[in-house]
Amino acid sequence: MQFDTLIKERQSCRNFSDKFVSKDLLYKIIASATNAPSACNSQPWRVFVTNTPEENAKMKSCLQNGGKNKFLDKAQAFIAVFGTEIVKLNAGTESKFDATHFVEYDIGEFVAYLTLAAKDNGLDSCIIGWVNNDEINAAFSVNGKCDIVVALGYAEKDKPREKSRKHLEEIIINYEK
Ligand SMILES: Cc1cc2nc3c(=O)[nH]c(=O)nc-3n(C[C@H](O)[C@H](O)[C@H](O)COP(=O)(O)O)c2cc1C
Repeated sequence: MQFDTLIKERQSCRNFSDKFVSKDLLYKIIASATNAPSACNSQPWRVFVTNTPEENAKMKSCLQNGGKNKFLDKAQAFIAVFGTEIVKLNAGTESKFDATHFVEYDIGEFVAYLTLAAKDNGLDSCIIGWVNNDEINAAFSVNGKCDIVVALGYAEKDKPREKSRKHLEEIIINYEK
């Protein structure tokens, strides 16, 4: 897909169809997302992937506390993104910044690449920040920090919505007409 089209058509999907999403496709998307930049190329991300009804159900229960994100009932796959605690930065960078200083930025880059790679491969997604980290760790017997999960599937209806975004004047501090 043309980049301009890709970034416009990537949108949060809250209406997934029942179509199965294969692990092969999920791994392809993850491989693509590993091209994301990170501080000192530290690549401080790890992921936990689910695509079976049993595992998806466990994941959903960690993302729907308090009745949130009901639409996830129909999501067909999840990629839970963990930030690693041991991060190797260049010696010079380490002398100025804490080792984990950039982890959340790096995870953001990785997740952005993931959602774009998904779209480019015909899959829709929704980033979920309403994550219960402790429940995810317990449900999958892992031990890490997971603040973001990407829900995936094929959209039931796939019409690009009009984007609601700030204007450049609000974003560029030194904007000149
Ligand atoms: C860090 C982050 C957390 C988010 N958490 C949720 C969430 O828990 N539930 C949800 O429905 N959407 C969530 N979203 C999706 C945003 O609502 C969405 O990206 C935003 O409204 C822009 O719409 P668009 O993605 O369709 O362009 C999250 C997005 C980000 C980046």
